[in-house]
Amino acid sequence: MITLSNVSKTYGQGHAAVEALKPLDLHVPEGTIYGVIGLSGAGKSTLIRCVNLLERPTSGSISVDGQELTTLSGDALNQARHRIGMIFQHFNLLASRTVFANVSLPLELMGVPRAEIRQRVAPLLELVGLSDKANQYPAQLSGGQKQRVAIARALASKPKVLLCDEATSALDPQTTGSILALLQEINRSLGLTILLITHEMEVVKRICHRVGLISAGSLVEEAEVGDFFTAPRTQLGREFITEFLKLEPPRALVERLDADPGDHSHPVVRLAFSGDAVSTPLISRLARDCQIDVSILQAKVESIQDRTLGLMIAELIGPSDKTREAIDYLETHDLHVEVLGHVQRDA
Ligand SMILES: Nc1ncnc2c1ncn2[C@@H]1O[C@H](COP(=O)(O)OP(=O)(O)OP(=O)(O)O)[C@@H](O)[C@H]1O
Ligand SMILES: [Mg+2]
Repeated sequence: MITLSNVSKTYGQGHAAVEALKPLDLHVPEGTIYGVIGLSGAGKSTLIRCVNLLERPTSGSISVDGQELTTLSGDALNQARHRIGMIFQHFNLLASRTVFANVSLPLELMGVPRAEIRQRVAPLLELVGLSDKANQYPAQLSGGQKQRVAIARALASKPKVLLCDEATSALDPQTTGSILALLQEINRSLGLTILLITHEMEVVKRICHRVGLISAGSLVEEAEVGDFFTAPRTQLGREFITEFLKLEPPRALVERLDADPGDHSHPVVRLAFSGDAVSTPLISRLARDCQIDVSILQAKVESIQDRTLGLMIAELIGPSDKTREAIDYLETHDLHVEVLGHVQRDA
């Protein structure tokens, strides 16, 4: 549905040039909710603004619903943009217009007759749950209600694609949940393809099917959401997951962690496991087969779509050859093992 080929974007020229996007390819299949995640300044907004040519890419081509956009201009580009809705972090409503008039604006601009506008706006307000607010002004609405108006407005021109730039970042967690549920419902009932960008893993976990990770203008990782959460392939991907799951060793332990193994020290490891490993009694087998003790310091299990992800921080207690053997054992059983450091034990 959306295909970016070799798209790059450089702002400014010469010494002032900022390469916000390096040449990248991205494909969003029809009917998918695709999340792009990345740190602040990574190029997320630039990427999504290139899709409907709010920013002209410096190179590359952009195809939406089979139509190549970069060759279009003027009326033809405006026509194509009607097939692409967009919502923003700060809603971008017109304060002087009522809810009804905000939603009808794109239809007025398209020259749709008044009577037809009335017929089309009412069901949109119903879809977003604001039928009773048609005559109110944005200043009278909560943040979540404003975003609902923006969603109804974005859907007015019957787009095939909805672009969301940090659409829930200005909302509290509960309101975020209700807006995400609405986006999911629209995706299912209208078959709308959604490309959203966010810096929150929670958004990706809740509604996305696929995810792309962007770093310094490059797409560094791309996967099904379940695969990304259970087996991220890049260091940055692992950092996002760890931060999301908030499984850090206790502070008192961190202060005692040493990078080098000493004579009487034991490794502290963070283990990530998924799939079969979640339901296998691996830790008791590890203790038995490798003849070590395992002290579990923290553990957490998360369900991500149809997948289960487990995380654990544990101290492996035993002679160093045995603990090394234990780490190999875990890795051969498809756990991701990260040695956080070593702690000294009284001999
Ligand atoms: N209009 C502009 N002119 C010059 N540089 C820009 C412009 N817009 C963005 N940039 C730069 O491009 C890079 C990517 O910015 P972008 O807004 O795409 O990041 P982002 O991932 O959306 O960040 P955030 O999470 O903070 O919204 C940054 O270095 C930014 O300073
Ligand atoms: Mg941004």
